[in-house]
Amino acid sequence: MSIVTLHWKPDSWCSKKISQIPRYRDTVYLKKIQNKLSSLPPLTTSWEVENLKQLLALANEGKVFILQGGDCAEVFSECRPEIIARKLKILFQMGIILSWGLKKPIIKIGRIAGQYAKPRSKEFELVNGQKILTYRGDLINGHLPTQESREPDPERMLKGYFYASLTLNFIRSLVSSGFSDIHHLEYLNLEFAKNSEIVKIYREIVEKIVESLKFVENSLLTTETTLKQSYFFTSHEALLLPYEEALTRKVPRREGWYNLSTHLPWIGVRTLYIDSGHVEYARGIENPIGIKVSPDTESSELTEIIKILNPDNKTGKVVVIHRLGKEKVDNKLPEIIEAVKNKNLNVTWISDPMHGNTKKTANGLKTRNFSDIIQELTKVIAIHKYFKTTLAGVHFELTGEEVTECIGGSSGITEDDLCKQYTTYLDPRLNYEQSLEMAFILANKLSS
Ligand code: PEP
Ligand code: CO
Repeated sequence: MSIVTLHWKPDSWCSKKISQIPRYRDTVYLKKIQNKLSSLPPLTTSWEVENLKQLLALANEGKVFILQGGDCAEVFSECRPEIIARKLKILFQMGIILSWGLKKPIIKIGRIAGQYAKPRSKEFELVNGQKILTYRGDLINGHLPTQESREPDPERMLKGYFYASLTLNFIRSLVSSGFSDIHHLEYLNLEFAKNSEIVKIYREIVEKIVESLKFVENSLLTTETTLKQSYFFTSHEALLLPYEEALTRKVPRREGWYNLSTHLPWIGVRTLYIDSGHVEYARGIENPIGIKVSPDTESSELTEIIKILNPDNKTGKVVVIHRLGKEKVDNKLPEIIEAVKNKNLNVTWISDPMHGNTKKTANGLKTRNFSDIIQELTKVIAIHKYFKTTLAGVHFELTGEEVTECIGGSSGITEDDLCKQYTTYLDPRLNYEQSLEMAFILANKLSS
């Protein structure tokens, strides 16, 4: 434990500026729920968290690559086996494509098993002339637009914990029973998009990988695969600090505090500032910390925050997830990289090409254009190359379902198609086929 965190406690954040956390009416009930949460088993372990930190440091050296993805907002009603399995499947399939292209292991990090709390730019909205609180994610209030459902309810934290544990339990079983094993291709079969060119190429890649694996295994007389496909971690925005605090634990035989609700908590753009309760909370935990950086983030403030979060300047501790948009990335990314380099700060760079490229259609639907996402990624790759910094990974909002939320891709979703299967509660996600295609394009761009 460093000297700076000596006086830190899991609830130190309460003394700082607090944004995006609801005011609960019944604080006694809130405390009761927090106490209950604190008594329950953790969802992750400190070994896993430390392992991820090491892998993030390796990603920094360009030895592994990070693929982070999942819903903008997970919802309790979608804690269903087929939905979870398809989400895992698309992440693993993208991982196979990327590892083939990049010739390195891909570390998969889901926005999963806890991505239930959302920051909002407006506190209220008007529904049928009535002013009601906005929806802040299932961990906080209900999606139904009524005054009653929008009232923040502490009990939702307990529900969120249980849904997260059910999700994780299923993921762990799938991963440990060979769901992600490259030898068991039948598990990774592509369910739809059967005729598309992408599927054909994907199959060819998988066959080639299996062939080379067989060759290696036969020649080494071992069934150990050198290509570890099974790295899987979880992440979510550590927004609802009463929940995060209750799952922050000390563990035997290790120093410090761990957030054991997830492996990689991140601080969102709206809560990233010097005096923020969220920064205060995050500075005291041993987990790696993601920080979302937007065009509005001041570089000088960013470097101060990085120092607060990582006073010992360790590699693998702070992950800068820049989400700048296809236009602003040109000036802002070099500015951020230079600021970080000038202060000799060790950070792991990840690109989120989704959140800077959100638009509203004439009908008021939020969408993103596939080509805008590619454009930002292309620029990001070039800029990191120019500055000799490592782009260690990518961050997508995606789903394994056949939704129509983002425009474009080779399946040709148009603005008119959006209403066909638009099921996200908040931001638009790449669908299954768009995600696969994204992986191919990315593998190509990163390896050339
Ligand atoms: C998100 O990742 O869903 C999100 C709200 O991101 P940001 O904080 O970057 O806007
Ligand atoms: Co989002």
